[in-house]
Amino acid sequence: MDRVIIFDTTLRDGEQAAGGTLNVQEKLEIARQLERLGVDVIEAGFPVTSPGDFEAVRLIAKEIRTPIICALARAHPEDIDRAWEAIKEAEHPRIHVFLSASDVHLVYQLKKSRQEVLETSREMVTRAKKYTDDIEFSPMDASRTEPEYVHQILKAVIDAGATTVNIPDTVGYAIPDEFGNLIEGILKNVPNINKAIVSVHCHNDLGLAVANSLEAVRRGARQVECTINGIGERAGNASMEEIVMAIKTRQDFFNLTTKVNTAQIYKTSRLVSELTGFVVQPNKAIVGTNAFRHESGIHQDGVIKMPITYEIMDPKTVGIPASSLVLGKLSGRHAFRERLAELGYSLSEEDFNRAFAAFKELADKKKGITDRDIESLIAEERRTVSEEYHLDQVQVSCGDRGIPTATVRLIGPEGKVLADAALGTGPVDAVYKAINRIVGVPNELTEFTVKSVTEGIDAIGEVLIRIESEGITYTGRGADTDIIVASAKAYMNALNRLLSARKAAG
Ligand code: KIV
Ligand code: ZN
Repeated sequence: MDRVIIFDTTLRDGEQAAGGTLNVQEKLEIARQLERLGVDVIEAGFPVTSPGDFEAVRLIAKEIRTPIICALARAHPEDIDRAWEAIKEAEHPRIHVFLSASDVHLVYQLKKSRQEVLETSREMVTRAKKYTDDIEFSPMDASRTEPEYVHQILKAVIDAGATTVNIPDTVGYAIPDEFGNLIEGILKNVPNINKAIVSVHCHNDLGLAVANSLEAVRRGARQVECTINGIGERAGNASMEEIVMAIKTRQDFFNLTTKVNTAQIYKTSRLVSELTGFVVQPNKAIVGTNAFRHESGIHQDGVIKMPITYEIMDPKTVGIPASSLVLGKLSGRHAFRERLAELGYSLSEEDFNRAFAAFKELADKKKGITDRDIESLIAEERRTVSEEYHLDQVQVSCGDRGIPTATVRLIGPEGKVLADAALGTGPVDAVYKAINRIVGVPNELTEFTVKSVTEGIDAIGEVLIRIESEGITYTGRGADTDIIVASAKAYMNALNRLLSARKAAG
């Protein structure tokens, strides 16, 4: 059976989603999980864009040994040289060169002729090929480019040494049958196409990214570029979990396979959601909280009698924890450790001790501790590692009489204790103003949402915020049984991300 290569671009196109910026450590953590998931290629970043991204790609290339590590480069000599610098220590390095191909891009953006673009593509692939054998080339906006010109470019870059040619539907404009025809035309009309893998890269502006990718696969493409949870520019990219599970579930139709360990899908989805701050919609296929929930009585009855009546996939196949065991105040280290293992966490002894202390603290406030509580608790612990400023204490006074007042104490760089107080229009505003007085980084709060992790009055509240500073959006998350404390934690998380991005930018 033929295999489809899964090229994961969560750390490059996914990170390009507005507000999805990840720091170096976060990118590394996702790359480790992508390796466990078994993707074939990790596009780790776009090294020329910032020193921080360069460093993230370099560290991933150094540490992650099984998948191909790919770095993106425009068709510019300095981009290609920088991409190679970042990935040269990889076990399997790949340089991905791209250049616009459509007339609309050539006329209005590049102001170059088709001949010039063709020449530059050939020259830049030749340059990249001096560094490594594994070269991918993308004619950007290919789905809006005259097919004959796409064929000419592909022939030229394959002659120059491209081993993968990627066909991007950059603006998510294509319709499945039309996109399939483009792929079939390439396979028929590019004379040297047998020397390269045909790849596709679809955006979701019309909600067709997965459909277009699958149609392309049906017509002969053998690499799909996709992201976890479908995150990416604008409406995002094709969702990796949907592509992989469609190929697996409908093997009878596609007669294809992938190398992905599907049992790692759910965990990867949660990690990416957690670190990017992009919440997964409840009805999202495969990984949404409702994806395997049956509400109607008829459906429930069917599933109890025989799951395949209404379930086309077993939730265990994608790693959704089967047990709903609830831990509590009397649960010990052993039970907690076992539950963590079942949920797919493997923590160092130090991290385990911190998590266990947080679990005990939570168990004092909340009756039954569910899997979602544990996930939220581990995420909160993870967020506070490598903070520049740490929230030590927060206290508010508020109500319908008097002015909301907050006092906060932070532990700053070199362990310095910093405290301040402020008045606000409400308790959260007062807390944020008090924090601003200490940290002193101007920014604007653009989004604030609070939701409870589970049902019940003692539930953990999760706060998600976005702040904007100098045109860049930073996301922050915080969790606590007290929503004012959760709000303060979310703000500290966003500020710490902002500070670390500025540091990485030099
Ligand atoms: O959408 C696109 O065209 C891209 C290219 C860089 C492949 O992301
Ligand atoms: Zn893209």
